[in-house]
Amino acid sequence: MVAKVMSAGVVGVEGYLVEIECDTGPGLNSFEVVGLPEVAVRESRVRIRSALENCGFEFPAKKVTVNMAPADVPKRGTTYDLPQAIALLAANGVVPTQELDGTLVVGELSLTGEVRPVPGVLPMTLAARDRGFRRIFLPQANAAEAGVVREIEVLPVHMFDQVVHHLRGDEPVERVAPAVPADLAEYPFDMADVKGQEFVKEALVIAAAGGHNVLMVGPPGSGKTMLARRLATILPPLSLEEALETTKVYSVAGLMSRHQGLVTGRPFRAPHHTLSHAALVGGGSFPRPGEVSLAHNGVLFLDELPEFPRPVLECLRQPLEDRIVTVSRAAMSCTFPASFMLVASMNPCPCGHKGSEQRECRCDDYAVQRYVARISGPLLDRIDLHVPVRGVQFDRLRTRQTGPSSVELRKKVNAARALQAERFEQSPVTSNAAMSGRDVARFCRLGDAAATLLKQAFELKGLSARSYDRVLKVARTIADLDGAEDVGEGHVAQALQYRDMEKFMS
Ligand SMILES: Nc1ncnc2c1ncn2[C@@H]1O[C@H](COP(=O)(O)OP(=O)(O)OP(=O)(O)O)[C@@H](O)[C@H]1O
Ligand SMILES: [Mg+2]
Ligand SMILES: [Zn+2]
Repeated sequence: MVAKVMSAGVVGVEGYLVEIECDTGPGLNSFEVVGLPEVAVRESRVRIRSALENCGFEFPAKKVTVNMAPADVPKRGTTYDLPQAIALLAANGVVPTQELDGTLVVGELSLTGEVRPVPGVLPMTLAARDRGFRRIFLPQANAAEAGVVREIEVLPVHMFDQVVHHLRGDEPVERVAPAVPADLAEYPFDMADVKGQEFVKEALVIAAAGGHNVLMVGPPGSGKTMLARRLATILPPLSLEEALETTKVYSVAGLMSRHQGLVTGRPFRAPHHTLSHAALVGGGSFPRPGEVSLAHNGVLFLDELPEFPRPVLECLRQPLEDRIVTVSRAAMSCTFPASFMLVASMNPCPCGHKGSEQRECRCDDYAVQRYVARISGPLLDRIDLHVPVRGVQFDRLRTRQTGPSSVELRKKVNAARALQAERFEQSPVTSNAAMSGRDVARFCRLGDAAATLLKQAFELKGLSARSYDRVLKVARTIADLDGAEDVGEGHVAQALQYRDMEKFMS
């Protein structure tokens, strides 16, 4: 008899359906899987047999053939253990086949019959919902992330036989209560911890308000790392849609914890400079999302930017421009979302004290040039705000005076974001930084004085065409923070201050 069980897989961050057919017939003790199965799938035979027997079911002494469709997509990993085992029992009449209608099954099996978590359950559950399925059986440990999807019955199991008992009507599995997104993340630190540095904080507010990329340049110990880590505390909250998008990435990467339904705070990723190309942009024979995608809708922080190998940095150019990454492998090619704010820090020279009032720089021109040249012009062009960070004076550190708190700064950010939400109501763009060239032409029109100022500055500084649009976007954000409808001369002037990389580099 042939039985059919529906399951699901993931390409990139999108789920798709997989049909598992099981045929048992005369013949002895064979178990063959067809339909491009990967090694882990082929090995499932061992786990299924053992799980079945340990839960008190018989593994049929027959010729078993399992076919997985679509055949042209490689089947990854252990996700199909549970659906294969159910299909096998259905083919043997142990489970009523009509109960499998509208039902999706995913999960790995241990030898004892325990159901183990698998990556990508959120996109799979979304795919099931979109295709009109009424319920999904999945591992208990993945219940929280799947519970975010409300329109489908989520049935979490920790043992294989629970599914069988449910389908036979012996003992129902309790469905998971749909999750409610939690409140904003709380942080154990605050912008007010950083003394002085008003200029940098102002730039970080602009960055957060418009989603702009930032590079902080300054001597060691001036608080760059401290400031960057506190950027997360002034970012606007994630919308539900953004939270879902980001959660899909974490689900596919297998990074959702047992209790976490949704990623609720904006991600802040700070990879070390020794990370590989694949770890940054994604890769592997079954492509996994890299840091640029794990930072989706949040921040990618590259501390000590020149320490990152140049080829690794060059990979950032595509995602910075397109807000997606495409990973191509022999098996398949897929796309991950990668819309992040790049925040980077560096010293102005190898010794770190160039331009400092407190200490003298010991580097010769050649060493400085070589250091700065580790970051290419095209990458620098894509960073909207270049921010000099000065060393803080000792008496400044001793002062009790604190600047504005993160809560106060975030209010400004949220107000500017509200204006953007109105502006981009009809488009997929969510922040000024993500505007297309056409959006810039439409929303950043300049008056005569502002246009003249911009033209002069470009001639003087020799800025590229790409940085032209970036200056206008930043000016738009500064105007939004100002509550101004039009981008004025003052807004352009302030935006231009943040393109002065040359000033503190030469
Ligand atoms: N503005 C500041 N207010 C309060 N503390 C500060 C400030 N700047 C630096 N510090 C203190 O100095 C320490 C070092 O700061 P941080 O690591 O952020 O510097 P950095 O600019 O990243 O230096 P490096 O270039 O060496 O990485 C902080 O942990 C903090 O204790
Ligand atoms: Mg640092
Ligand atoms: Zn130096």
